[in-house]
Amino acid sequence: MSKSISGFSKLSKSKKIDWIVETYFSNKEEAKNILKQYWNTNDVIQQLHDEFIENTITNYYLPLGVAPNFLINDKLYTIPMAIEESSVVAAASKAAKFWLNRGGFKAEVISTTKIGQVHFMYHGNYDTLKLFFDSVKPKLIIDAQPIAKNMEKRGGGIIDIELKDKTNDITGYYQLHATFDTRDAMGANFINSCLEQFANTFKTEAKRFDLFTQSEKNIEIVMSILSNYVPDCLVRAEVSCPVSELNEDPDISPKAFAEKFIQAVNIAEIEPYRAVTHNKGIMNGIDAVVLATGNDFRAVEAGVHAFASRKGTYSSLTHATVNDDVFKLWIEIPLALGTVGGLTGLHPLVKLSLELLNKPSAKELMKIVAVAGLAQNFAALRSLITTGIQQGHMKMHLMNILNQFEANVSEKERLVEHFKTNVVTHSAVVEAIENLRR
Ligand code: MEV
Repeated sequence: MSKSISGFSKLSKSKKIDWIVETYFSNKEEAKNILKQYWNTNDVIQQLHDEFIENTITNYYLPLGVAPNFLINDKLYTIPMAIEESSVVAAASKAAKFWLNRGGFKAEVISTTKIGQVHFMYHGNYDTLKLFFDSVKPKLIIDAQPIAKNMEKRGGGIIDIELKDKTNDITGYYQLHATFDTRDAMGANFINSCLEQFANTFKTEAKRFDLFTQSEKNIEIVMSILSNYVPDCLVRAEVSCPVSELNEDPDISPKAFAEKFIQAVNIAEIEPYRAVTHNKGIMNGIDAVVLATGNDFRAVEAGVHAFASRKGTYSSLTHATVNDDVFKLWIEIPLALGTVGGLTGLHPLVKLSLELLNKPSAKELMKIVAVAGLAQNFAALRSLITTGIQQGHMKMHLMNILNQFEANVSEKERLVEHFKTNVVTHSAVVEAIENLRR
């Protein structure tokens, strides 16, 4: 029977665990042991994890894998990926190898600005508000100087602040719509701190603005927050090759492969049910690198899917063409990433992942992440239009099923050998284990 508790966050870690175990578990010792099994033996690392969030009771592991052979703008990378889905790293590696021999991936950053907004209510004359905004704008920027000066030293900072009239949507609703360049930082804290300062200055100065009536002086700040929609923090990645070099599968000609591939992309461009799955496959690659490099995958997910629906219908993030017998597949996505600040200097595996990537700038990381998404899409569509997805997927999933049945080392060896020449399905694996154990 569950019960509420007050003062939980003040308890020590072991007291928190005691309470959870007492309240929710029948086999209390087993629950405690599982939690403790995932504690790090190095106290410093464990303390780091304890302090990332409130109420840490243990660590939640994901595998960190690597996909080598990614040639991006003529530079070779081994890409770190943190993900639990069996086939993702294998698919990335396979796609990387395929394009390695065909000129690799080309990637470019198109733009790098981010948005933050102060949402406020004002019930008065618009022209007077506009006069006030124009007169206070320099002060908004000056008052935020203590926050912005370090970012400015690095070449970034506050780019602009605009007044937006949203009263057609909500009576009395306006915004300070600000644009920022946060260089190698993801910049959420920087942007939010600037916005809160803008809001303070705006509200205080309104009280002193002579042209406002008494009631107009009472500007009500609703909230100040960055936007995770970053359509102007955009990166493009592409692959291309002559159609004749496109396919290695003897069962389908390169021309037929290219045609089918483009049909598959076209379907995702116009059919939202397919587009969501198509883009999910892309996010398999993107999230895995975003996580490995300590970035905020929820922010990336929210921004990418908003971008995928920017034209009013949810659509594919990738596009493909054949022109003059050259096949081209490309992706354009918004990515707000950082390679300094946040977890990047704290989490030992994040630091290691960034070093593996040769300590990239945020712009370089944007290219790498976009490429990981594109590679994943190529691998998924290649399977879908030829063998079907299950063949490769189930091969990688085999080990999970064997682990579910607690197969020992020799059983695993024999069954992996067996399934090199047999189709992997859940029931086929169960039958093979039973036969072996009989
Ligand atoms: C599975 O995680 C991802 C795929 O469904 C992507 C796709 O269908 O394009 C294979």
